[in-house]
Amino acid sequence: MDMSFEGNRLKLSDNNGSSHTYSALWLRESSFSPEFRDAKTGHKLGDGDALPLDIKINSAVLENDGLSLEFSDGHTCEYSVSWLADAAEHPTYQELTGEKMLWDASLDPLPWYELRDLEENKAVPPEEAYDLSMTPRALEPHTDNPYHNPQPGYVLLHCIENTANGGESGITDGFRAAEELRNESHGLFDALVNTPVNWFYRDDQAILEDTSTFIDVDGDGSVKHVRFHGRSDRVAAVDADQVDKFYAARGRFIQLNRSSTSPKTNVRKIVDTTNWP
Ligand SMILES: [Fe+2]
Repeated sequence: MDMSFEGNRLKLSDNNGSSHTYSALWLRESSFSPEFRDAKTGHKLGDGDALPLDIKINSAVLENDGLSLEFSDGHTCEYSVSWLADAAEHPTYQELTGEKMLWDASLDPLPWYELRDLEENKAVPPEEAYDLSMTPRALEPHTDNPYHNPQPGYVLLHCIENTANGGESGITDGFRAAEELRNESHGLFDALVNTPVNWFYRDDQAILEDTSTFIDVDGDGSVKHVRFHGRSDRVAAVDADQVDKFYAARGRFIQLNRSSTSPKTNVRKIVDTTNWP
């Protein structure tokens, strides 16, 4: 395995002649360091756009299957080279259940599952559930559960009693932000339409993964679906220039979402949001 780096690019080449060039920001945002990423859910502790777009690699040391990097923001992290190679070779999620098995009329016996067993595996006791949204940390604007397939179409939030001191709940229109981004820059808009993003969540009971894009458009070009979840997005390790353009587009999209009005959610109000128009 050969490694070279310069500025905001790092190249890994194996002995079979295949190589991949990684964006420094992709590597930085892929950090598994506990100061950046929650070990249990795998979610980032803050939105990725807090990282500088022009981040660079200061030093890189390759030793067997380990790659140690130090970035220009002072962050250090160790990566498994085989994990990096796999991320480039399989940029989007593989099926959690393994390869699909095609079947025909000769299938015998039929696959059979007891509903009770499936339900037992599905249940998550509330006292054991864990998610960053259950902590006092501030949450940035987001759409719920992009790692679910299908993503919930409608979300009902019912505030029965607000006992918290401080803080504020706000709502932003992701469809408006998408149209504003398109008006500003077709290039940035297209980056959010075309760059695959791996969303994920995990806890003791479940692993939830799906690959999709920030923005889906319909046949007539209208925005059909908006996804936005700065703590669970992990852009696929595709072409480094495309990755960097995605990060620039994501940063502007976040700014546009934050700039909208944010009415406070009051006691005994129900708020209904949708991920589809
Ligand atoms: Fe949420």
